Amino acid sequence: MLILSVESSCDETAVALVRDGREVLTDCIASQLALHRIYGGVVPEIASRKHIEAIYGLADQALLRANVTRADIDAVAVTYAPGLIGALLVGVNFAKAAALALDVPLVPVHHIRGHIAANYLAYPDLQPPFLCLVVSGGHTMLVDVQDYTRMEILGGTRDDAAGECFDKVARMLDMPYPGGAALDRAAQSGDETHYVLPHSKISGNPLDMSFSGLKTAAVNLIHNAQQKGQEINVPDLCASFSAAVSEMLIPRAMQALELTGRKTLAVAGGVAANSRIRADLTRETQKRGVRLCMPPLSLCGDNAAMIGAQGYYEYLSGNLADQTLNAYATKSMEGETL
Ligand code: KG4
Ligand code: ZN
Repeated sequence: MLILSVESSCDETAVALVRDGREVLTDCIASQLALHRIYGGVVPEIASRKHIEAIYGLADQALLRANVTRADIDAVAVTYAPGLIGALLVGVNFAKAAALALDVPLVPVHHIRGHIAANYLAYPDLQPPFLCLVVSGGHTMLVDVQDYTRMEILGGTRDDAAGECFDKVARMLDMPYPGGAALDRAAQSGDETHYVLPHSKISGNPLDMSFSGLKTAAVNLIHNAQQKGQEINVPDLCASFSAAVSEMLIPRAMQALELTGRKTLAVAGGVAANSRIRADLTRETQKRGVRLCMPPLSLCGDNAAMIGAQGYYEYLSGNLADQTLNAYATKSMEGETL
């Protein structure tokens, strides 16, 4: 089954062609990063306008690159939540028009479910159940993937997402938006013991997390140094910060494995590209004899191939939409699709 998939929830316009949820024929991405960078973050109006400009050309490009025709498409899948509402609406309306014109089913896909499904592309033999650590720019949570379309959130951040914190601290260090990857690179040569950053204690659900205290501590440390005219050792601070984020995530992921008895841990989302988090996960899962699935960096960030992968399984589960499909800025990834 050939799915044309569309992603436009934030600042990447993407169109892919994916066969049977596992084989990517092509994944075309138009990034708007350079445009938003001058504002230090994503400007929603600009994002929507640029999605409109890019999406038709990208779809033509995808067909051309994959050497398929419109008649070969069996369904259209699209990210319908969560994200920037104006940005999502561009993809949803394009997908609705495409499904109507091609007379094929329309499949709504939750963005986070898509991130998780990037693992199906990277690991063709991977099947639920497994545990997934989702760490993106806007979400940080531990998800028990019981089946392709049945998922339970076991714990998550009570405040900021890990990616937001990486970006905020990177911005304070004058790194271009989104600074997570630059902060990661700087951390490579740093000494993580130089700066002592706090580790938040959280009562209640042991799998919940908190990043705002850590973010504020790092921001204050930079401010104080600036006010006193002191130099910050950027690599050292980046190394301490990355270590602190990892120490919030990894023990909880390990505890979730113990609680659920799952033998496979997958990771998903842009922050899953972080080298410290990847190294810590590799070491800790090896110790426990747990299989670790970490998609390549190209599949960790936003893309449409992951939407095509999840779209296939949503289709098989009968989760289809009609021309009344709407977009939603927020929506839980558990439970019913619509
Ligand atoms: O999943 P994603 O592409 O977009 C969302 O759906 O949010 O994630 C983007 C986030 C940004 O916050 C970016 O700074 C972060 O992923 N990121 C990283 C790294 N590469 C990307 N954070 C830490 N280390 C990295 N290597
Ligand atoms: Zn994303």
